[in-house]
Parts: sequence; C-alpha cells; structure tokens
Amino acid sequence: MSRQRLVIANWKMNGSIKANAAWVDGFASKNSPACEVAVCAPFVYLPQMAELLKGSCVELGAQNVSHLESGAFTGEVSAAMLADIGIQWVIVGHSERRTLYGETNEIVAAKVKAALAHGLKPVICVGESLEQRESSQTLRIVEEQLVAVIREVGIEALKRCAVAYEPVWAIGTGKSATPQEAQAVHRALRELTARFCPETARGLRILYGGSVKPANAAELFAQEDIDGGLIGGAALKSEDFYAICAA
Ligand code: PGA
Repeated sequence: MSRQRLVIANWKMNGSIKANAAWVDGFASKNSPACEVAVCAPFVYLPQMAELLKGSCVELGAQNVSHLESGAFTGEVSAAMLADIGIQWVIVGHSERRTLYGETNEIVAAKVKAALAHGLKPVICVGESLEQRESSQTLRIVEEQLVAVIREVGIEALKRCAVAYEPVWAIGTGKSATPQEAQAVHRALRELTARFCPETARGLRILYGGSVKPANAAELFAQEDIDGGLIGGAALKSEDFYAICAA
C-alpha cells in the first residue's frame, strides 16, 4: 500500500499576525508540493490562518486539545471548539506537553478519543528521552505510549490518525536521529500496529520529528517506514519548510 506523504509544521509558541501572513504568502508563492501539508499554529491565530489558507492545499491544525467536553476548565480548548472553526488536525501528546505539563499516557489517549469524537485527525506523538535511549528502553517506551492510545480508541480509529516518532533528545537540539535509528523505531511501531491489524498498519502514516532540516529531510524520508515529518524550528521559515515538503 502506498501511503501519501504528510509533512506538518509545528510552530509551537511562535508567530504573530504579521509573521503568519508573510509565512502563508511565502509558501503560497510556490507550486503545491506533492505531499499533504498541514500547519499547526497557536490557538489564537487559528481563525486568521483559516482565512489565509482558504483555497490553498495547506490544512490547518492545533497543537493541543482538552480531553474534556466543556465546562469549568479555565484556559482549556475543546475538540468541539476546534471542529467548530474548521480545524482538521491536532497534535496530541507532544513531548513538551508530556514533560512540561504532566500529560500521562492516559491523558494523551483521552485527548485522542476527544479529538476523534469531533472529527479531528490527531497526530499522536511518541518518543523516548536520552536516558531511556541509553538504557535501551526506546522501543518499550514508544510502544507503551502507542498501545495506551490503541486500548482507548481501538485499532480501527488509528486509520484517522497519524503517529509522530519524536525522540526527545532530537527535538530542538539540532541533533536529529540518523535515518537508520529512526527507521528502526518506525518499523517497530508499524509491526506493533500490525499485531492489532495488518491493514491499519500498512496504511498508517508514521512521521519523524526532531531537528528535521532541508539538509537531512530527503535522507530521512527515503526510509521505508518514514512517511513524512513533524517539523518544529525549520517550519518557522516558509522557505525551509517548503524545501522539506519538496524533499
Ligand atoms: P524541531 O521540533 O524540528 O524544532 O526539533 C520538532 C517538534 O517538536 O515537533
């Protein structure tokens, strides 16, 4: 089964009305890349971005979502709200959310469930810390992270998700995993999924994230089980992000 390539920008807590408009201008001035593309912007800029991206091939995503429906949860944004303004994607369980905001595997799974219930496409992030890698726990950690989601939403639901493997030690550090290191984990994640349902595993897009740049994207994306990327720092400049999509 050939999987459509997918490249997603994760702007994190960056952007401004002016910078966002310039970014969209820059990206739109080029031919549409052959892959599927999405941008995950901060909540406050989503309505602006929805307007700017109207009629373009670029889809829009959020970087987080509440696992709860509605009510007295000051500062939270629900999946229903994101769906209400036409958002397609949402990043769930990014390592910065897991480590800085205490999101557990259970909360991440509940967020995926809430997102799916409102028709959003979750990007489920998994990844090990440096200490975990050095003590040979990488596969156990990422498998636990993914299995927690599968147990909550069921294997079939993964057809409406993407997975992003992001080694924590590679995020924002300039030190990407080697294509071989990444491929080994991507393959393990696909094999794990195949134990639940081979068909879902074949169609599942597993993105790599962690210091992807124009210079290393092609080699990473050439790996059999790497179906695209989740791009942080290099997605802030539209030229760099475009070059990664073109790769
Ligand atoms: P990076 O971030 O590309 O800046 O390493 C990736 C991510 O955190 O999604």
